[in-house]
Amino acid sequence: MAKVIGFCGSPIKSGNVEKAMEHVLESTGHEWELIRLSTKKISPCIGCVRCADNNRCVLKDDMNELLEKILEADAVLLGGFPTFGRVNALTKTFIERLFPLIHNHMLTKGKIAASVSGGFFDQETVKEDFSAVFRELLMRDAGSLAVDGNACCYKCGYGETCDYSAFIARYGKGAKITKDIFYVFDEDNDVREKAALLGKKIAGMLQ
Ligand SMILES: Cc1cc2nc3c(=O)[nH]c(=O)nc-3n(C[C@H](O)[C@H](O)[C@H](O)COP(=O)(O)O)c2cc1C
Repeated sequence: MAKVIGFCGSPIKSGNVEKAMEHVLESTGHEWELIRLSTKKISPCIGCVRCADNNRCVLKDDMNELLEKILEADAVLLGGFPTFGRVNALTKTFIERLFPLIHNHMLTKGKIAASVSGGFFDQETVKEDFSAVFRELLMRDAGSLAVDGNACCYKCGYGETCDYSAFIARYGKGAKITKDIFYVFDEDNDVREKAALLGKKIAGMLQ
């Protein structure tokens, strides 16, 4: 059995990105693990480039442990959502810290990769951010899944009145925030099916 490792860059516990990633991973039919990056200590890269010596990072946080997980895995699934229209900082910091894997050996070369991009408007830009990383790391891109999400304005308390509300941007002035507007991945059979297909695509490439 192959090993598939997922890294969820959404800090929202049991949010739609995490749920969708679990479904993709389960659908591979292989051994899998999902790591929530928000539970790990990952500092930004300091640009010392000492990782060129041994393909590991000098920073004393959790990232070397995560690099080992990638090296042990046969396929990698990344997930995140946008802030200000681009992949969120937690996910980006993790991506930045993949730099040690490049020097001299390109340790990710040929490894299968796929992505789950959440968001309220900008899933497509997050997907592009992930694809660019996979290209740079010479990974084999199995594809990506876009998942809807619940804007912060649904739950901040001002979403129906704030002039800058993403809720109003989608539903118009005068609309009410009710329980049924909340997106729930587990109830979206179309996207669940797409998630399952992505999992199967990864499995197919693992053969
Ligand atoms: C600070 C912040 C900024 C965000 N900015 C954007 C954005 O610019 N575009 C977008 O599509 N989603 C944005 N989102 C993401 C969504 O609003 C939502 O949080 C995300 O899809 C996770 O959804 P979930 O809670 O349903 O899992 C932002 C979220 C946060 C917390």
